[in-house]
Amino acid sequence: MTQDELKEAVARAALSHIVEGQIVGVGTGSTARKFIDALAEIKDRIPGAIASSEDTRKRLESHGIRVFDLDDIAKLPVYIDGADEIAPGMHMTKGGGGALTREKIVAAVAEKFVCIVDRTKFVDNLGKFPLPVEIIPMARAHVARQLVRLGGNPVLREGFTTDNGNLILDVGGLDIRDPVNLETQINQIAGVVSNGLFACRPADICLLGTENGVRTLTRNAET
Ligand code: 5RP
Repeated sequence: MTQDELKEAVARAALSHIVEGQIVGVGTGSTARKFIDALAEIKDRIPGAIASSEDTRKRLESHGIRVFDLDDIAKLPVYIDGADEIAPGMHMTKGGGGALTREKIVAAVAEKFVCIVDRTKFVDNLGKFPLPVEIIPMARAHVARQLVRLGGNPVLREGFTTDNGNLILDVGGLDIRDPVNLETQINQIAGVVSNGLFACRPADICLLGTENGVRTLTRNAET
């Protein structure tokens, strides 16, 4: 199976996690886009969705799925999103698409985070994929210096502005053996809006696309 087919399989499998009659949170990226296309087929069973980016909002609306403001909802049973890397503890690196901050906000509100990835994203330890860090533009040099002190190699994502009007530094070379601690440490740097480590709020379930079908993983276990 191609990577694209594996993404499609997990996107479809995620439909079984939707709570009928309830709003669903929707992530960003190529796997999330496949999920949106699958969601369109059952759109009559949900009132609508929360979008984690402008790209996602546009795609949801193009399918006639109503997009709600996060401030206007009282409950979000589930959030479905991809990842750039996910480890057995359900910690993730996200933000390859630059939507990390809004993704983190929606994930914080959701009762359940379902991560949908193809097998190439499942790793023993996070760190091969450079960590995206969203920063306030005027803090670029300061944040970059602090990230170097943490052992990283920050590179500005050229020509990219986030939906929030900010910049992204992609940080290679970090030691991410303690993702909760590193996520917290990076968030303490003045000028950082958020970083792509989703460790303080990890996924609850990972739907992993493999040649042998979609596997359902939870923290350090398979169900
Ligand atoms: C966007 C993200 C995406 O979930 C992540 O980049 C994975 O994307 P894809 O499904 O295209 O591989 O965090 O900010």
